[in-house]
Amino acid sequence: MAVLEVRDLHVFYGNIEALKGISLQADAGQIVAILGGNGAGKTTTLRTISGLLRPRSGSITCNGKSLVGLSAHGIVAMGISHVPEGRRIFNVLTVEENLNLGGYLIRSDRAMVQQRKGAIYALFPRLLERRMQLAGTLSGGEQQMLAIGRAIMSDPKVLMLDEPSLGLAPILARSVLRTVREIADRGTTVLLVEQNARQALTIAQRAYVIEVGRIVLEGEASELAKDERVQKAYLGGFEAVSSASPEP
Ligand SMILES: Nc1ncnc2c1ncn2[C@@H]1O[C@H](COP(=O)(O)OP(=O)(O)OP(=O)(O)O)[C@@H](O)[C@H]1O
Ligand SMILES: [Mg+2]
Repeated sequence: MAVLEVRDLHVFYGNIEALKGISLQADAGQIVAILGGNGAGKTTTLRTISGLLRPRSGSITCNGKSLVGLSAHGIVAMGISHVPEGRRIFNVLTVEENLNLGGYLIRSDRAMVQQRKGAIYALFPRLLERRMQLAGTLSGGEQQMLAIGRAIMSDPKVLMLDEPSLGLAPILARSVLRTVREIADRGTTVLLVEQNARQALTIAQRAYVIEVGRIVLEGEASELAKDERVQKAYLGGFEAVSSASPEP
């Protein structure tokens, strides 16, 4: 059974149909990439899965249990964690306090909170060095690490990331995406919306391409990376960037 399964999702903003029948699925420990141009419906898909938008029709299940109609809080409790576009962290709280907030579901178990924080600091050593620093004073890359760290404090089954590398220097973007791979390797399923299609297809197993509210292509990430349509629409600009900057 798929950990996350979305079937024939239709979502409207007023009279405008933003999602016109989106279906996708992700298995345990898989990274599933969602690619598509501006306004395609990627963010809308994530916001609907996390309960911030209500679908007009369609189903969303996590390990076979329906998420449709649950509150956003209830969906977090079901094991779905969402790092939205623009990494909303609490600027006036420290790194450590932000992580504590991410652990609100397990707050009564202090040992567990400490253990999860330890695991996140191991994943992002930079956050450990800055644990008492106000989040608002972190660099963009560090803020992204913190947003991801906070989202995995609840040890989610599914982690949804909306453009985690946006605005980061290429070397930091690669480092964040490598860590996403590590998180998935530990068993968390990741739904990854990413502008950097080349790197997303490198770390993902499966991918879907959305255009104006519909899935137009889907398959193994390695196959899609070779697809002429994908190369033309999404990989054209990135080849030069990645060949100009050697892998660290
Ligand atoms: N709050 C809203 N009210 C009305 N229309 C919206 C709203 N949010 C998004 N839309 C519309 O829904 C469509 C899908 O938007 P969405 O934000 O999901 O796209 P996206 O694929 O995430 O794009 P981007 O790559 O620019 O982030 C777009 O046409 C957008 O204009
Ligand atoms: Mg978006």
